[in-house]
Amino acid sequence: MTGIVDSFGRSINYFRISVTDRCNLRCIYCMPPGGVPLIPHSEILSYEEIRAVARAAAELGINRIRLTGGEPLVRAELPRLIEMLSQTEGIEELSLTTNGTFLKKSAPELKQAGLTRVNVSLDTIKPDRFRDITRLGELKDVLEGIEAARDAGLHPVKINVVIMRGVNDEETLDFARMTHKEEWHVRFIELMPFNGGVESVPSAELRQHIGSLGKLEPRAPVTGNGPATYYRLPGAKGTIGFISPLTEPSFCFRCNRMRLSPDGKLRPCLLAADEIDLKMPLRNNSPMVELERLILKAVASKPEHHHLRGDPDCTGASLANRRMSRIGG
Ligand code: GTP
Ligand code: 5AD
Ligand code: SF4
Repeated sequence: MTGIVDSFGRSINYFRISVTDRCNLRCIYCMPPGGVPLIPHSEILSYEEIRAVARAAAELGINRIRLTGGEPLVRAELPRLIEMLSQTEGIEELSLTTNGTFLKKSAPELKQAGLTRVNVSLDTIKPDRFRDITRLGELKDVLEGIEAARDAGLHPVKINVVIMRGVNDEETLDFARMTHKEEWHVRFIELMPFNGGVESVPSAELRQHIGSLGKLEPRAPVTGNGPATYYRLPGAKGTIGFISPLTEPSFCFRCNRMRLSPDGKLRPCLLAADEIDLKMPLRNNSPMVELERLILKAVASKPEHHHLRGDPDCTGASLANRRMSRIGG
């Protein structure tokens, strides 16, 4: 077992690093049309500062890193960071979560820089609906981006789908059928109530619906460090995963991760407000042992589980201190 063991016996070996709170899209469940107040550039960690955190984390046993945003590909010179992190001793896997709109152009250089694989957000395969959900995006760019990632050897590509009742739920079977046609690894994510206004659909309901296409056979993840549970339709090339933070009682027992925000805050739990600042110590040139001490302190403060189920209206009031675009999912 690698990693840092937390107060509940979970082994923490996975860091999710949000490199920017900026995004080129305005997805309806994430941002208002006019965008959100942004973190000033001077407050955002430099690549050298991110590398210092990664080195300290790797020293403690973190061996997997995922870059997130906002949209990580809007940050200038991202391949430079990827190269720095992929050369960090102890880091065995370096992946990226993206909305895919810039992948077509950047996939080869990301691979070249040392990226292992990508997960792409895609909530609809209808062009008009794609414009409605993302407000600024073009479906074609993402579909071409997925192809480009695969061609570049960023494998396996996983597709993240947030199903929203009355918005895109009628496409559940279309996404499931895509796993027959292509080697798509589709994961349905239960919408977490960061923004309100849009209703999530429980994974059990989706599973039952997809069952009309054939018996879903449980299977191990192709590769991955996240909370999805995977299935396959008979004879399908790809897989179907479910990420169920709202309805799976054991969701948090499997938690293996910490998050770093663009402005240098370590967040022990996506769905809890507590954070520990690393920016100040980084800018005061604190030694690596001090960063390690703070990382261990943050891991020790990881909650056993989130409290969304105990939140009577599931409004996510406890999430109000940060937007998803600043935490990176
Ligand atoms: P793999 O290594 O490919 O399994 O990646 P992953 O699933 O860890 O990464 P990805 O960024 O694709 O995550 C998909 C989504 O799952 C996130 O955007 C979140 O919505 C959700 N998610 C991931 N980790 C957590 C978590 O710790 N807690 C909660 N509540 N949701 C999470
Ligand atoms: N609930 C669940 N997933 C979300 N994402 C963004 N906001 C939410 C939310 N409120 C997902 C995106 C993407 C990943 C970065 O986070 O669809 O796949
Ligand atoms: Fe871990 Fe918090 Fe996510 Fe639960 S909600 S899996 S404790 S980060």
